[in-house]
Amino acid sequence: MLDNSAASVTIRRVDYTPPAFAIDKVELEFDLAPLTTTVTNRMQLRRAPGASARDLVLHGEDLELVRAEIDGKPWTGVQVSTDGLTVSNVPEQPFELTLVTTNRPSANTSLSGLYVSNHNFFTQCEAEGFRRITYFLDRPDVMTTYTVTLRASRADYPVLLSNGNLVETGELPDGRHFARWHDPFPKPSYLFALVAGKLVAREQRIRIRSGEEKLLQVWVEPHDLPKTEYAMQSLVHSIEWDEERFGLPLDLERFMIVAVGDFNMGAMENKGLNIFNTKYVLADAETATDIDFSGIEAVVGHEYFHNWTGNRVTCRDWFQLSLKEGLTVFRDQEFSADMAAAGGSPEAAAAARAARRIDDVRGLRQNQFAEDAGPMAHPVRPDSYVEINNFYTMTVYEKGAEVVRMYQTLFGRDGFRKGMDLYFARHDGQAVTCDDFRAAMADANQRDLTQFERWYSQAGTPHVSATAQYDAAARTFDITLTQGYGPASADAKATQKGPLLIPFAIGLVGSDGKDLPLRLAQDGQVLAEPQTTRVLELTETEQTFRFVDVAEEPLPSLLRNFSAPVIVSYDYTDAQLTFLFAHDSDPFNRWEAGQRLATRALLSLADAAARGDALSLDPEIVAAFGRVLRDSTLAPAFRELALTLPSESYLAEQIEEADPAAVHAARLFFRRALANGLRDDLMAAYEQNRVEGLYEPSAVDAGRRGLKNVALSYLADLDDPDDAAELARAQYDSADNMTERSAALVTLLQIGPSAARAPLDDFYLRFEKEALALDKWFGMQATRRGAPGERVLDDVGALMAHPAFSLKNPNRARALIFQFCMGNAAQFHATDGSGYAFWAEQVLALDAINPQVASRLARSLERWRKFTPALREKMRAALERVAAGVQSKDVREVVEKALAP
Ligand code: TRP
Ligand code: ZN
Repeated sequence: MLDNSAASVTIRRVDYTPPAFAIDKVELEFDLAPLTTTVTNRMQLRRAPGASARDLVLHGEDLELVRAEIDGKPWTGVQVSTDGLTVSNVPEQPFELTLVTTNRPSANTSLSGLYVSNHNFFTQCEAEGFRRITYFLDRPDVMTTYTVTLRASRADYPVLLSNGNLVETGELPDGRHFARWHDPFPKPSYLFALVAGKLVAREQRIRIRSGEEKLLQVWVEPHDLPKTEYAMQSLVHSIEWDEERFGLPLDLERFMIVAVGDFNMGAMENKGLNIFNTKYVLADAETATDIDFSGIEAVVGHEYFHNWTGNRVTCRDWFQLSLKEGLTVFRDQEFSADMAAAGGSPEAAAAARAARRIDDVRGLRQNQFAEDAGPMAHPVRPDSYVEINNFYTMTVYEKGAEVVRMYQTLFGRDGFRKGMDLYFARHDGQAVTCDDFRAAMADANQRDLTQFERWYSQAGTPHVSATAQYDAAARTFDITLTQGYGPASADAKATQKGPLLIPFAIGLVGSDGKDLPLRLAQDGQVLAEPQTTRVLELTETEQTFRFVDVAEEPLPSLLRNFSAPVIVSYDYTDAQLTFLFAHDSDPFNRWEAGQRLATRALLSLADAAARGDALSLDPEIVAAFGRVLRDSTLAPAFRELALTLPSESYLAEQIEEADPAAVHAARLFFRRALANGLRDDLMAAYEQNRVEGLYEPSAVDAGRRGLKNVALSYLADLDDPDDAAELARAQYDSADNMTERSAALVTLLQIGPSAARAPLDDFYLRFEKEALALDKWFGMQATRRGAPGERVLDDVGALMAHPAFSLKNPNRARALIFQFCMGNAAQFHATDGSGYAFWAEQVLALDAINPQVASRLARSLERWRKFTPALREKMRAALERVAAGVQSKDVREVVEKALAP
């Protein structure tokens, strides 16, 4: 079974030392069988220049050593431990080490290393899974070339895949066969992969710009083949986009994507053989929503873009994870934005881009900001970790992407491209650091980016507060920006050493709602041509910027397009926010004005609810939302986003002592006020945004469906929801796609369990054999609002016993358990503490099966100190219960950090 019980050891970035040995090449042979697989590993090793170690220390976990040889002769100087193998007194000269080991794929429930899913074999090696396959220098700065031979029963495993190019196949005695693969590109072990089983492929041949032909394959179980069209199309678009935008071509003859139903994360960028969670490959109109389609496009892009940013140039050590992840998320965001914008009018393209940006920022602020304010806060380039799997975080990925985006904001697209070109010219084939990337950006743009390094080394979300002063006689407008940090853990505080370089985009809006020309005075000089948006570079703790020739007192539009991952405060009045919500030319800030307006009202409603006071909402606010809802010059996708209120968990983060019940009551009151105040407009939006004709997951159609369904959901919050119930029932019955069907069902669940009963049963029967659709069925019941006094947890408990539920399948566990604990705040935080007891039970149950998944769930209580005293104490008890029973270092790191004083 899993042996994760070893004492927790903290790994520190400052302790990095280069490897003592290099591996010139490796040959792996697999005799695949589910119970016991035998791996023969033949490595050509040599001491690294200058290294003199007598012993070779290899990583290894859960392996059985069968045999060790050096240069073809048995070697007895080997010592096996729980985490590796020491080979002593190895030769001075280069030598060949052969190790034969066995492992147990069908017993591997951690889904790290070699495992079985639905009778097929898969691997997952990032970050440290390769050591569960064979003894190795399992660290990203050890790169070598792999030749891999797979042997297995032909009947059971007709398809045998690994990285690179297929060089040989053939028959073996006893109904077995083999395939040999060679990957010409040196790679770290975390990019190794193999797949074996009963799979079929959708294939496509494409010609890249050099004229070379490439073979693309998407491998799935046979019955899923019709659901691979969109993934293939996304792959083709990704390849074209990376050549067009960054001049980066596909470098292998063949590129494969494989889908697997049991997977810990979204997908994995193994060289030439990407392995994907089915969720990010399989889609058709009946079973996947608009959001699923857009997730597939983004993740296919993300993994493909890793081929250059991650694989050709990789990380020196895991502290540099954001080097590949932050950069690759930035690239997939840009790709998705370009795809959404393609083909439309300039206005439609701008709206589509803005919608993507708003979505990305909303995710960052909801999740990464909370992470950065809690006990797991860490810099984009962390200084230490106990379990590296715990550092595949929002900070490394999403804040890391914002840090990369800031280079582009500072230098423009062309300057950014120059930096990328220099990065590849310098580092192709190497394992490097975040500093190397920054140096390439600095050198290509002749800029000193010393101060910018702080974005990588300081934890916590920066705060920028702004004040403004208009001098009518002098026609000057001064804006003073002050930067600092909010409350943070002691560890995070210790990283906060000085002011950041913050690219701060600003516009000045005149009384007619139009942008004023900006003339910035600096060092007594007026800078360049007037513009309407200017990126100020804030480098000091406090700095004042002066605009000249400002004809009237303007309203500042701050941090346009969210030009830096910071929290901005400025004393806007409600009337000023209403004005910006109606006029700001920057679509991000137009949306932002609405969010600020709503957040302020919601927080004061929550305050009133917590005190037991009567709730009321200024009709001007309702009117402001109504104007945006009715404005048909705005893209439906934008209007949908504008109408979507900040989530309960985001609002709770804004309160010193959060009371989830009060937040829930506040948000519901606000929704009801909008529904009652805008009933006719919502009805009109519903009717006008029906999409006729064949389903297409295009940004435009998805935007219309999104607006229509958000309107439906508001209508369901009317005092009398009968009309909404009728619309939802009709929509459910007539739906020819999952977006419409699931939105209708979610709305019926919102109205109440009895309204949803029949369609829920229908949904189950319809999709009984469709795992991803069934995940939705579990998820929507787990996130159901529930009437006051009603315990949705009781439904969740019953669903845990449903024959289709399994804790071993991460997607299913996420659909039911995570959705309840992380996506249903008011129910999870029930005052009786039942949600927390359930959480503790499930974390411990998962811990024994799959520590990576358990540890993600464990994190849903890390903000426990932010809640009211009564809840806090119950949360502490649940955390202590987990701390007492935990086995894995994954979960232990999370709960110990959460409980630390
Ligand atoms: N490198 C993967 C990505 O972001 C992440 C990943 C996939 C992963 N599977 C994993 C990380 C398992 C840790 C463990 O594209
Ligand atoms: Zn990635």
